[in-house]
Amino acid sequence: MYFGKNARVEEMPKYNSLVVVILILTTLAFSESFNYGDALSKSLLYFEAQRSGRLPHTQRVKWRDNSGLLDGLEQGVDLVGGYYDAGDNVKFGLPMAYTITLLSWSVVQYRDEIGGAGELDTALEAIKWGTDYFIKAHPQPHVLWAQVGDGDTDHLCWQRPEDMTTSRRAYKVDEENPGSEVAAETAAAMAAASIVFSETKPHYSRLLGRYDESIPVVKGYYPSASGYKDELLWAALWLYKATNNLTYFNYAIQNGDSFGGTTWAIAEFSWDVKYAGVQAIAAMLPTEGKSEEAKKILKQYRSKAEFYICACLNKNNSTNVKRSPGGLLYTRRWNNLQYVSNGLLVLTAYSDHLSWINQSLECEGGVVGWQEILSFVKSQTDYILGANPMGVSYLVGVEPSYPKRVHHRGASAVSYRDSKVFVGCMQGYYNWLLREAPNPNVLVGALVGGPDLYDHFRDSRFNFAQTEACTYNTASLVGVLAKLNGPTPNKSLSHK
Ligand SMILES: *[C@@H]1O[C@H](CO)[C@@H](O)[C@H](O)[C@H]1NC(C)=O
Ligand SMILES: *[C@@H]1O[C@H](CO)[C@@H](O)[C@H](O)[C@H]1NC(C)=O
Ligand SMILES: *[C@@H]1O[C@H](CO)[C@@H](O)[C@H](O)[C@H]1NC(C)=O
Ligand SMILES: *[C@@H]1O[C@H](CO)[C@@H](O)[C@H](O)[C@H]1NC(C)=O
Repeated sequence: MYFGKNARVEEMPKYNSLVVVILILTTLAFSESFNYGDALSKSLLYFEAQRSGRLPHTQRVKWRDNSGLLDGLEQGVDLVGGYYDAGDNVKFGLPMAYTITLLSWSVVQYRDEIGGAGELDTALEAIKWGTDYFIKAHPQPHVLWAQVGDGDTDHLCWQRPEDMTTSRRAYKVDEENPGSEVAAETAAAMAAASIVFSETKPHYSRLLGRYDESIPVVKGYYPSASGYKDELLWAALWLYKATNNLTYFNYAIQNGDSFGGTTWAIAEFSWDVKYAGVQAIAAMLPTEGKSEEAKKILKQYRSKAEFYICACLNKNNSTNVKRSPGGLLYTRRWNNLQYVSNGLLVLTAYSDHLSWINQSLECEGGVVGWQEILSFVKSQTDYILGANPMGVSYLVGVEPSYPKRVHHRGASAVSYRDSKVFVGCMQGYYNWLLREAPNPNVLVGALVGGPDLYDHFRDSRFNFAQTEACTYNTASLVGVLAKLNGPTPNKSLSHK
């Protein structure tokens, strides 16, 4: 049975001072048992395990090898590279782009902290592995290759990426085949990454920045579709942050209402539903020099962002994010930790913002300071790293206990380095997926789907709702872990 830290602290007054001292010491020992810097390093390693294409000699995850070297060939375009987003071997453009946006946001916000942990180069490499691919995927104006491989055939096959025999057909979006969601998310990723590289690689940064010219963000090529309006606002805000071009700012202001940015209050932030992220980014924009009308609209964005944060903190009177008995934010059964991890980056960034502007947040349930938001982020992160009823770290590779049967084709089968004997589609099912034994390769840094509403977790490869990991789960955690690791130990976080 898990004995929560808070429970221990609340009982303190009953004991004499010696016991109190001992309790404080054990509480401190417990709270410091999570090494955020180590978790950060591991989280960045994960992106190397997800690489598609020709692996460089610096590749540290040695159980992987080259794969997908003919991607795009059928269509006469070079689509070698990029990331597999989860446990299968399809390259899906939307989650890949979202992953790069979150990684870039993490670096934009916590560059010093990531550098302080000695991980800036690996973080930049993780981003560049994605943006190099997006450059290839966008070989001419109005064309974006948005997917390689298809889920249907891939999911009928259990093969290491190095052995793939499934279709590698590539799919594109263009003027005949609109796909604003993926196009806008890719524009957001390129813009966010161009901020990341602006100082160290100005030429590369400019290359990324030019991407918007072919992307429909402010041009509205596909006015009939719906359901991608959050991506359009998201892209416009990242483009504005990257370029300072007011066209993008005005786009987000003028469409705030009609695209739902200032009207939707949604207690979720994910690859699919980005409003909370949009609202938080808008709320944190500087207001100097902006018109009264624009300020008014930014304030509306802010109130929705704050709704989201209050709902995470359980401080709205009517709508809050559910929590498990162990205290984990709970949105949905399937890959619940994506919502937690993505939300934590919003909360962490907003906590910093409140600290900088020296303001607090007024929720219906009370006034909340930036410290309280950050403490909450820490408690959720600690849950992820092992302070939970199962005593399991859902970030793979963090000792002493983590999932051993991650639903992941490459990790579940013998390493290509150890055996180059071809593993066929069904052979993979029988020999590797169906086994009881742990995966032969540890997918270090992967954040799996995690426990259910009652904190239960079953470590089985068939339990993909809980044991599959995704690149966008880990991507936002990079920023959060960097913040918690800190350039200097964060005094406000000590347990009193
Ligand atoms: C701002 O962006 C718009 C849309 O891409 C473009 O037409 C315009 O030239 C840009 N302005 C500047 C100053 O770069
Ligand atoms: C609390 O949630 C409701 C929706 O259930 C929302 O209308 C209201 O604005 C929220 N309050 C605050 C302060 O955000
Ligand atoms: C921050 O706000 C508090 C209370 O609103 C105020 O007392 C304090 O002086 C402010 N600090 C700074 C540095 O402005
Ligand atoms: C929220 O609930 C608290 C406590 O029940 C109450 O004092 C407060 O007035 C409520 N706020 C709103 C906006 O309903």
